[in-house]
Amino acid sequence: MASFKRFVTTLVVAVSILSSYLTMTTEATPTYHYHFCSNTTTFNLNSPYKSNLDIVLSNLSSNAAQESDFIFFRADAGDNGTSNYVYGIYLCRGDVNSAICHDCVLTSIEYARQKCSVEKEVIIWYDECMLRYSNQSFQSTMSASPSFCMWNTQNATESDKFKQEVEKTMNECGSKAAKSAKKFMVQEADISGFDTIYSLVQCTQDLSIHDCTKCLQYATSSFPPLLDGKEGARVFLPSCIIRYELYPFYEAAESPKVHPLITRNQQMK
Ligand SMILES: *[C@@H]1O[C@H](CO)[C@@H](O)[C@H](O)[C@H]1NC(C)=O
Ligand SMILES: *[C@@H]1O[C@H](CO)[C@@H](O)[C@H](O)[C@H]1NC(C)=O
Ligand SMILES: *[C@@H]1O[C@H](CO)[C@@H](O)[C@H](O)[C@H]1NC(C)=O
Ligand SMILES: *[C@@H]1O[C@H](CO)[C@@H](O)[C@H](O)[C@H]1NC(C)=O
Ligand SMILES: *[C@@H]1O[C@H](CO)[C@@H](O)[C@H](O)[C@H]1NC(C)=O
Repeated sequence: MASFKRFVTTLVVAVSILSSYLTMTTEATPTYHYHFCSNTTTFNLNSPYKSNLDIVLSNLSSNAAQESDFIFFRADAGDNGTSNYVYGIYLCRGDVNSAICHDCVLTSIEYARQKCSVEKEVIIWYDECMLRYSNQSFQSTMSASPSFCMWNTQNATESDKFKQEVEKTMNECGSKAAKSAKKFMVQEADISGFDTIYSLVQCTQDLSIHDCTKCLQYATSSFPPLLDGKEGARVFLPSCIIRYELYPFYEAAESPKVHPLITRNQQMK
């Protein structure tokens, strides 16, 4: 929770229905959404922090490059107990394949190097993946901030009923995701008068069932688009993401592969 407390809590980004449709098409370029990097905690380019960060980023990218099918990966570097220790993760959306995951991780690392070149605490969201690193441990810890959301500008008809149905679907999907090893789930729900709601939820794999459920419930209940009955919305938190639409937007043929968590640890004086 603490890592990004100083940042803006919630940032709201509206997207048009057209751009939501455009992101459906699977293209090679990952879709950038947003980033936070706090300029209140920075490092020097010739510091041990920088060397450790380089190790973390290189380990993250080399793991993604192995097409190892890890959708979630942690890398740390530094002398344990010192202020130069760097904690990093990437999380790919549970339905993207390893080539897209790899591409997204590399793109987000490149983005971080350019836009957050001296900041210690960084989080970058693409549609396909998230990159996060910090000098403060955030492992196995639920973080709800910083956050942002995007939505389809179209209001649902019968918005009260629609909201109830979306919330029910998201809660069902969320409780299955929290119990799954991958901490990821998609679910379709047919609703009379509303066609089909497509929902996707995902937590970082290091969260407990309890914390994953808590994160997803917070994401479902605390953001304006769902409360206002928009036809589609996405909420991004450091520890979980949710999205629902009235059209299919995820890879349906996703096979629920399960992978163990891995932590890589390198020492650097
Ligand atoms: C940090 O960012 C804020 C907001 O963009 C800006 O007003 C401030 O000048 C920046 N501080 C430094 C030290 O760069
Ligand atoms: C991590 O990166 C360092 C430096 O680039 C390298 O020596 C080490 O083998 C990498 N470890 C893993 C597990 O990729
Ligand atoms: C750092 O050391 C402490 C105790 O010395 C240990 O409990 C902890 O797991 C270590 N952390 C890492 C990231 O290695
Ligand atoms: C992270 O860096 C900031 C600024 O350099 C420092 O105030 C803070 O104590 C550091 N946190 C840890 C856990 O080292
Ligand atoms: C959706 O509803 C809000 C509030 O009722 C209204 O301000 C907005 O114009 C509506 N948007 C569309 C696209 O109809």
